[in-house]
Amino acid sequence: MKLWGGRFTKETNQLVFNFNASISFDQKFYKQDIQGSLAHVKMLAKQGIISNEDKDKIVSGLTGILNDIESGKLEISQSSEDIHTFVEQTLIERIGDAGKRLHTGRSRNDQVALDMRLYTREQVQEVNGLLKELLETLYKVMEANLETYMPGFTHLQKAQPITLAHHFGAYFEMFKRDRSRLFDIYERMNYCPLGSGALAGTTYPLDRDFTAKELGFYGPTLNSMDSVSDRDYLIEFLNALSLIMMHLSRFCEEIIIWNSNEYRFVDIDDSYSTGSSIMPQKKNPDIAELVRGKTGRVYGALMSLLTTMKGIPLAYNKDMQEDKELAFDAMDTAKGCIALFTGMIDTMKFNKERMADSCKHGFTNATDAADYLVNKGVPFRDAHGIVGQLVLYGIDNNKALDDFTLDEFKAISPVFEDDIYDAISLKTCVEKRLTIGAPGPDAMKKVLETYREYLNK
Ligand code: ARG
Repeated sequence: MKLWGGRFTKETNQLVFNFNASISFDQKFYKQDIQGSLAHVKMLAKQGIISNEDKDKIVSGLTGILNDIESGKLEISQSSEDIHTFVEQTLIERIGDAGKRLHTGRSRNDQVALDMRLYTREQVQEVNGLLKELLETLYKVMEANLETYMPGFTHLQKAQPITLAHHFGAYFEMFKRDRSRLFDIYERMNYCPLGSGALAGTTYPLDRDFTAKELGFYGPTLNSMDSVSDRDYLIEFLNALSLIMMHLSRFCEEIIIWNSNEYRFVDIDDSYSTGSSIMPQKKNPDIAELVRGKTGRVYGALMSLLTTMKGIPLAYNKDMQEDKELAFDAMDTAKGCIALFTGMIDTMKFNKERMADSCKHGFTNATDAADYLVNKGVPFRDAHGIVGQLVLYGIDNNKALDDFTLDEFKAISPVFEDDIYDAISLKTCVEKRLTIGAPGPDAMKKVLETYREYLNK
């Protein structure tokens, strides 16, 4: 059955039907479609547009369809054009004439706008929950590693010592921003398009406030043309997912480097790694690589929808059916990636000694040695030059600054005294960095308190 056969004299060409149909992918929101119809039909009866008797029949018919789909008793038939057609058609088959009144005062245009919004709203909440779990995991690692020293890098060259907690804290900030973006999107999108009709509202006395409330929206949308052709919220969500993936991908890149044979800062758990079919020694960071790889897919969905929307005149046009497949794929991909990434971090081992040792052999305390001289009255530019010479000497003699004898220090500058060793120890270098946002454990502890409050909210 078609919802629109009346004015046609010929059968639809089979290829045209296949090309036009969306059931294979919009069946994903059967639940939201039925949820919207239930609210609509309750409102129709309340407004006296259909009888209470018909309403009761439709409500129990729709509830039965929902239960039967969920229990597997009713299979969604791929011969319907879309999920809206399938549900209405099944309802009419099951309850007869009353079912034919369901679509009174409604168009598939406001119906699909509603379904997509309901579906996306749930996804926003799910992603938010997954990010929260990830943040809890990061928090746990941070709390346990306030004094786990490691080199911080710029240009992928060892720069200054930091802590593992500090490094993870950077990602904590990123994912915290991602959550606040989801919150903004939710606030902006949570208005109900149902009742906008095909584009110009309807002549029935619909109560749009009622349906909006019934479906958990803040209120109805305010322009029926915009309501049926707005997919901004979806683009915003795909943008938020792209940023999440970008953050995950950067983190994965670091983990791949840290897990490499040269670094060995971390050990990815066996349960989160895979092997090679030919090289028996291999244990590969495939999960991290896949998350990094899948980022492109999510960006693709964003670019695709932006491009689809850019040339569409008001109001609804069939191009908009293209909002679904890639968006669904992006949502499923991002959710899977966040969950797997969280599991990988949760089971990962940190090689604290390797990390601390790496600081020592990269002259990461050179800045602190210069600051030492400044504190003894040497102008910073001169101090920089002196420490530069120390580093050169260290490289030539394969020695870390910490291992110089006092005579070796003094040979380059007489200002050095015995207290230099304490001044450039890893512990001092990190502990002295005490401003807000810096890696010093006391500063980090305060930040962690704020994070705890944030997570408990
Ligand atoms: N399958 C369509 C979509 O996803 C539903 C809306 C159809 N509306 C129409 N006027 N043909 O956008």
